[in-house]
Amino acid sequence: MDDRNLALEFVRITEAAALSSARLMGRGDRNGADHVAVEAMRRALDHIDIRGSVVIGEGERDEAPMLFIGEKVGAGWRSDSDRSPRVDIAVDPLEGTNLCAFGQPDAISVIAIADDGQFLNAPDTYMEKIAVGPECRGVIDLRESWTWNLERIAKAKGRRLEDVTAVILDRDRHRELIAEVRAAGCRIRLISDGDISAAIATCKDETGIDVLFGTGGAPEGVIAAAALRCVGGDLQGRLRFRNDEERARATRMGVKDSDHIYALDELAKGNVMFAATGVTQGSFLDGVKFFGGGARTQSVVMRSKSGTVRTISSTHHFETKPAYSWATGLE
Ligand code: FBP
Repeated sequence: MDDRNLALEFVRITEAAALSSARLMGRGDRNGADHVAVEAMRRALDHIDIRGSVVIGEGERDEAPMLFIGEKVGAGWRSDSDRSPRVDIAVDPLEGTNLCAFGQPDAISVIAIADDGQFLNAPDTYMEKIAVGPECRGVIDLRESWTWNLERIAKAKGRRLEDVTAVILDRDRHRELIAEVRAAGCRIRLISDGDISAAIATCKDETGIDVLFGTGGAPEGVIAAAALRCVGGDLQGRLRFRNDEERARATRMGVKDSDHIYALDELAKGNVMFAATGVTQGSFLDGVKFFGGGARTQSVVMRSKSGTVRTISSTHHFETKPAYSWATGLE
């Protein structure tokens, strides 16, 4: 895949989804905000010259009308020539539906792209995760205790344990984890949602976050792995099933060992690209800011091949950009 030009094209997709869902910020309607993001992303993808297959999406065909797993997207499928690159696509049009619905920080729109077959086909179940930034690459191990990992992270960063900050989803299932991190003397930032942003935050010094611990969505784990591949961070994941049905579905999707600990490049292999646009104001991306007749967005685009990270600030004028009218309800 010649991904240099494509990477910039993909920002348009996350921008469209972010612009649409940001319109509904704080309205208490998480499904509505998600729906418009999905619709905007689907329409924007249709203008890009790729033959894309959704491998991480909004669920399976029978439960999602758009961007379902297996859906073919991109203008390339309509052309007779075989020129358009075949890519696998992992999307989360609105990561943090509740964050957007209640105007909380860190809702983002994300897409990750890889060559055919390079993402783990993650079932829609949970995944236990540890994610860290580049300085701690190779020092984490999900088989070991949280304390063991915290000590290794502190050592790699040349810090005392008291100066290490872990981000953890605020869930009952994390009670033991939170108690152990507190007992180790580390600081904790509890978040209500959004563990993709939290995983990426470990790679940015200015966020003050050193590690993400805990169990969140498995699809989110694969998308976060794609982002961390681009910036040299590290992530390990182990699937966690809520019931036998989820376990059986994972087996159907090709998971052989349900206890397997996935390394970063088992989750997202080969050349990957990642793009995200902020929906609400966040720790690593600004949220959408509307002004009369338009809006400003901030996005990031990253490629694993070059390691280049581009931050893109865009000003959108809806009148001169009819392409966005459908994305913003101004049609
Ligand atoms: P949505 O965007 O689908 O609402 O997911 C938000 C999220 O917080 C993810 O970031 C996280 O991986 C997952 O939900 C955690 O799941 P749960 O809310 O069931 O604990």
